[in-house]
Amino acid sequence: MKHDIKIDVQKCIGCRQCIKDCPEQNIRLIQNKAQIQSQDCMKCGHCVAICPQNAVTMTGFDQDPIQCDQKEMDPKELLYTIQTNRSVRQFQKKEIPNDVIQDLLEAARYMPTARNMRDVELILLQKEREQAEKIAVHLFRKLLKGLNLFSKRYREFLIDDHFFFKKAPLVIVVVGKDKTNAVLAASAMALMAKAHGLGVLYSGFFTLAAHTSIKLKRMLKIPKGKKVQTTLVIGYPSIKYARGVQREALHVQSR
Ligand SMILES: Cc1cc2nc3c(=O)[nH]c(=O)nc-3n(C[C@H](O)[C@H](O)[C@H](O)COP(=O)(O)O)c2cc1C
Ligand code: SF4
Ligand code: SF4
Repeated sequence: MKHDIKIDVQKCIGCRQCIKDCPEQNIRLIQNKAQIQSQDCMKCGHCVAICPQNAVTMTGFDQDPIQCDQKEMDPKELLYTIQTNRSVRQFQKKEIPNDVIQDLLEAARYMPTARNMRDVELILLQKEREQAEKIAVHLFRKLLKGLNLFSKRYREFLIDDHFFFKKAPLVIVVVGKDKTNAVLAASAMALMAKAHGLGVLYSGFFTLAAHTSIKLKRMLKIPKGKKVQTTLVIGYPSIKYARGVQREALHVQSR
């Protein structure tokens, strides 16, 4: 979708806030009115967000900007949520309501992307989940046979029919050009999922299978120039953790 930035000169009071906040130095003040120099900028929308007069708008969106008038979140609550979060591998046989899934998608939609490239795409695997898992299981069983020849360690290792998705009702495959952009979107969805009482597993194994199997790539219809960057397995947990887990302090350098 094409987006044009428009400045309403009647509303503009020449306060320069948009000029100072534009990361591409793309706005000038001419006769005390802000003027966009080129429509060929990254369309980050900072000029829209900062204008105290609501004089700047961007065309081509299906919704108005959200007003910033709610109180900020509680930092202690957020930290507790992060500290007690676990990867979940046991799920209830319970579908996720559509409005909850929509919240996950909204969280991903609003995450930042480098130079506002908006390259992230999501594939929701629900109906075709079993089919995708079957292909991945077949591939991994074949790979395991090869590993068995070289190492005793894997002889007892079992790849069951639900090895990847653990019977969870929803899998979100995160596709994009840039790994960081995709992982940021995934992480926002995971946090939103937690807020809805859902559990999440990042499946590196399925991501690896999607890179390796031509059959999976074809089935997922990965667009040219993009690749599967990460995979989220999501459902209501059938277990409850009584406590968090200790973690070694991060190695942090101050120089
Ligand atoms: C991986 C990544 C790298 C980024 N690198 C830069 C950067 O080097 N310089 C910069 O000014 N902004 C950088 N940004 C910020 C993006 O330009 C910004 O997220 C995007 O324009 C959308 O604006 P918003 O985050 O205010 O929604 C980066 C963002 C991401 C996610
Ligand atoms: S922030 Fe708004 S009012 Fe201020 S100069 Fe820019 S367009 Fe004009
Ligand atoms: S959309 Fe971003 S880059 Fe473009 S003019 Fe506005 S603030 Fe500058």
